[in-house]
Amino acid sequence: MTKLFVTGGAGFIGSAFIRVALEELPDCEIVNFDALTYAGNPDNLAGLDERRHRFVHGDIADRAAVMDALEEGTDAVVNFAAESHVDRSIASADEFLRTNVLGTQVLLDAARARRVARFVQISTDEVMGSLPEDDASFFTESSPYAPNSPYAASKAAAEHLVRAAHHTFGLDAVITRCGNNYGPRQFPEKLIPLVIANAIDDQPIPVYGDGRNVRDWIYVDDHCRAILQALRRGRAGEIYNIGARNERRNLEVVEAILDALGKPRTLIKFVKDRPGHDRRYAIDPTKVETELDWRPQETWESGLRRTIQWYAENQAWVARARSGAYRQYYAQQYGMEIDVRR
Ligand code: NAD
Ligand code: DAU
Repeated sequence: MTKLFVTGGAGFIGSAFIRVALEELPDCEIVNFDALTYAGNPDNLAGLDERRHRFVHGDIADRAAVMDALEEGTDAVVNFAAESHVDRSIASADEFLRTNVLGTQVLLDAARARRVARFVQISTDEVMGSLPEDDASFFTESSPYAPNSPYAASKAAAEHLVRAAHHTFGLDAVITRCGNNYGPRQFPEKLIPLVIANAIDDQPIPVYGDGRNVRDWIYVDDHCRAILQALRRGRAGEIYNIGARNERRNLEVVEAILDALGKPRTLIKFVKDRPGHDRRYAIDPTKVETELDWRPQETWESGLRRTIQWYAENQAWVARARSGAYRQYYAQQYGMEIDVRR
């Protein structure tokens, strides 16, 4: 795998993947195709080797732009580009359908037209819905589809389109489904960076509902190393669930961050629950562990420490991410202003 076409590579996971791929595949060259939405950030690409990484500003739902940027001889398309935030999909689903569904189909068509050897679709455990609390059930690759939010439904639709391209046209395609990622450069609309940024500024920490919802957390570079394994060794037409066996209740996550930063738990503010809020996600990663010989390298403790440290040391990045439109989003989502110090 030497020529990769990565979409959404200016976002949180895509930019981490590019770093990991450039390091682990010394011969690879990457075209990074990204529309730079509110979540895409050129700062995330700082320091990348320009001889091996080329950024192209473009929209995956724009067929002409994709065909223009995707060259013959590309070994793989790795599709990270998406609208990724559940709360925003509840406010309005339009962009989710355009990017996540239509955009994926455009990429599949372009990959076939350019005879790309492999297509990797980055999906999510949310396509399988919610698990019961306090039992030993897990998501496996054969769990039924049961998406509960417009975001999850759009990602499930994208999976169906990838599956259909494989079945009907013989496109070599692999789907990976991961749980909740955390790590550097995650946009502070998501729980962990939001909590870290607010706690550093002594701002209230909004916790939805009773705070007992469970998510299965994975450090972003571990996710990216698993994607790399799926890219190199995954079987065409297969789905791989990726998880680090790390279930945590939201309150436990919030308290761990507050404790690490030496901030009081009185900052926690219980707010109105997310409509249709999935109760529990938990992934059985046996297939990716055994078939692709992958294991996470970070523990929850080491990953969280690194993450908190990155945000503490990159306050300028956080300030830029939280300027402008973010304030409007925050006020609308939480019914309170964000009062940042910088
Ligand atoms: P993100 O929101 O941080 O980044 C998304 C990137 O896609 C941004 O750079 C944005 O500019 C780009 N983008 C959006 N619309 C585009 C379009 N029409 N054309 C081209 N680029 C576009 O998202 P993330 O958290 O890095 O997630 C990346 C992928 O991983 C998504 O497909 C998401 O569904 C999936 N995923 C995320 C998680 C998670 O915990 N964050 C877990 C499992 C799967
Ligand atoms: O499981 C994988 C998914 O994880 C990805 O597909 C999504 O792209 C990613 O955004 C994430 O979805 P979640 O909805 O689980 O992540 P989020 O960070 O938005 O929320 C995590 C949990 O924290 C969830 O139970 C909602 C809760 N929460 C979130 C926010 C933003 C709060 O209690 N307060 C908040 O302010």
